[in-house]
Amino acid sequence: MVQGETSEDYSHLSGRYGGIPVSVKKERSENVRIVHGREFPLVLKLEIDEQEVTPSTKRTVLKSFLSEIATQGIFLNLLRNHGAVIFRGVDVKIDDYSDTMRSLFQQINYIPFEQIGLGNPRKAMTDVVMTVNASTYERRLYGHQEFSRYKRSPAVLSFFCQKSSKEGGESTLFHASEYYELIKKVLPEFLEETLSRGLYVSQCWPLKIGPFDPKAPSWSTKHSFGKYIEESDSVEEMKRKAVALCLERACDDYEFLPDNSFKIHHHIKPLRIHPYTKDPFFYSSFPVFYGKYYDARRLGDNYQLNPVNGHGARFDDGKDIPQEVLDKLMELSLEIEYFHKFSDGDIIFLDNYQIYHGRLPFVEGEREVFSSMWDEPPEVKKYPELLNTLV
Ligand SMILES: [Fe+2]
Repeated sequence: MVQGETSEDYSHLSGRYGGIPVSVKKERSENVRIVHGREFPLVLKLEIDEQEVTPSTKRTVLKSFLSEIATQGIFLNLLRNHGAVIFRGVDVKIDDYSDTMRSLFQQINYIPFEQIGLGNPRKAMTDVVMTVNASTYERRLYGHQEFSRYKRSPAVLSFFCQKSSKEGGESTLFHASEYYELIKKVLPEFLEETLSRGLYVSQCWPLKIGPFDPKAPSWSTKHSFGKYIEESDSVEEMKRKAVALCLERACDDYEFLPDNSFKIHHHIKPLRIHPYTKDPFFYSSFPVFYGKYYDARRLGDNYQLNPVNGHGARFDDGKDIPQEVLDKLMELSLEIEYFHKFSDGDIIFLDNYQIYHGRLPFVEGEREVFSSMWDEPPEVKKYPELLNTLV
């Protein structure tokens, strides 16, 4: 554990970074949670001496500070102990953020995680930074763990706010281990059944051909399953390329529907042990999958309801999960949320296994948030193992 890590005082991280004096202070967050005796999240503010503040010093300080704490092992310690670490106070632009991410993760030998199989179109801003899902900005995006249902998932996520929204757009986070504990307490039978039966959800993308449209999901887009698709490809060739990528990165159970939609069937084992903390956790994207059904019933609104997706989730052996249990699972996920109101320049780091993320609705065009995802190299990658008995 990092010296002074459990105390309120993070002054040991203060010092000169890139030759510029910087003080590091922990920010008090009113809705911070305690999980396994540790605060979630940890919010640290970097302060550069007022006379030294210029765009150039901000850039230097951010890169130098994060690279330095990464080299010393402090970055990963903080992330694993708290699940989420938020750095604020130094607002830079997207190119500096991108450069800083490359430098930080290089220090700990992590590699960029290539996003394949995304539900909604994204745009690559640099080689390691992408846009986030803004296709449903007017709706709440419920909690999920990135690529949790796929064969490959990133260990660490980073979100950068270049421009914060005046209203809404808060990042919502909750702890997967706290979720597990709460489900065990409130819905013990569901957890027992999940252990033996597993969970099932599906995803279905239409086929749309044409220029990039951030609001038009299609399995043929680059970051869905279209990485190798070329304009001259026939639909059959497009399908062949999508399937190869699906088998490599997503799952083995898929089908094309008569209208050329691509449907994949996820067979999920959500009860896991964290590879480093050894805490049990509920590994899933359940809230984001069930959320549209939850909203549809609650708000009397059929937005995005797609009958081919069934009811959002069932047990993997075909048994239905009672609606009141599904609703309760949703409510539990909302009960333990932490809200982060972004300021320009905030960077959130998440341990993707420990933390679910989502966001509140916002006004279109006001919010510029980008993501960068990283992973351990395949030869040393530690996956969350299956939990065999409830603990
Ligand atoms: Fe996400």
